[in-house]
Amino acid sequence: MKQENMKIIEQKMLAPNIFEMTLEGLIVQEMLVPGQFLHCQPPTRSDLLLRRPISISSIDLKTSQCKLIYRAEGAGTKDMSQLSANETLDVLGPLGNGFPVEDISEGELVIVVGGGIGIPPLYEVARQARLRGAQVMAFLGFASKDVMFYLEEFQALGDVHVSTDDGSYGTNGHLGIILDEILPQIEPSAVYSCGPTPLLAKVDQYFEEHPRAYVSLEERMACGVGACAACVCQTKDKKTKKMRLKKVCDEGPVFATGVVNI
Ligand SMILES: Cc1cc2nc3c(=O)[nH]c(=O)nc-3n(C[C@H](O)[C@H](O)[C@H](O)COP(=O)(O)OP(=O)(O)OC[C@H]3O[C@@H](n4cnc5c(N)ncnc54)[C@H](O)[C@@H]3O)c2cc1C
Ligand code: FES
Repeated sequence: MKQENMKIIEQKMLAPNIFEMTLEGLIVQEMLVPGQFLHCQPPTRSDLLLRRPISISSIDLKTSQCKLIYRAEGAGTKDMSQLSANETLDVLGPLGNGFPVEDISEGELVIVVGGGIGIPPLYEVARQARLRGAQVMAFLGFASKDVMFYLEEFQALGDVHVSTDDGSYGTNGHLGIILDEILPQIEPSAVYSCGPTPLLAKVDQYFEEHPRAYVSLEERMACGVGACAACVCQTKDKKTKKMRLKKVCDEGPVFATGVVNI
């Protein structure tokens, strides 16, 4: 883990209030697993003391660059969205345990299931799965066509199924409708998911006993490094059924299915 002022290479608006920020720095060489996050300091607002956790959406070790995709929602992320190329962003990371991808092998079917602003870390998962020769299927849910992003990027890696809550693109309704239709017909070797709680609960239920299925939680955080307990979630040991509180920032954000009380 490092703290670094990363150089902003590009800041691009992908959809209203959704930004893609390309960052360059030494810290990228430590990003070996998808699903980890950077804890970002709002750049100009000295009154905002807490960093904002944002997932790493893609990693390029060759150029020492990575990308973040984030929604400018509250004060801190709005502040981040004002930055331009050649400025810097103070980050701490890479933090958290990411998605295990090293056991993906050629020919396997890998599925990623993401909703809204939970989709970004799944792009690097899908990219690494494809590099390992797996067949990738992506299930992506958005509020509407206007706020869709990265569709072509996912389509370049495999089959993509999309739903929008308002029916403006793809299946009309929530992603669970597509999951209920397609999941009974396929047997994925590995499953990776990130997004709103009801979506994670659905994936967790479907794949509770699957040995390679994972959900990533986006719990509210303060320190991001395991020191303050702001981010605890309730988990159970799969064998003993004993309940235990775990810190999402350093014991997660990625957990195996069947473990977290979602
Ligand atoms: C591991 C992880 C990865 C994330 N990845 C992404 C991502 O890739 N793209 C993206 O747009 N968002 C992501 N989020 C959510 C993002 O961190 C929050 O939306 C953001 O921190 C809100 O800050 P704000 O300044 O916009 O809002 P404010 O309301 O000003 O934030 C106030 C405080 O609440 C915390 N907070 C508010 N909402 C959330 C939330 N949903 N999750 C965690 N903390 C929150 C903030 O960190 C801050 O400390 C992620 C969250 C976590 C925990
Ligand atoms: S945010 Fe402080 S322990 Fe997780």
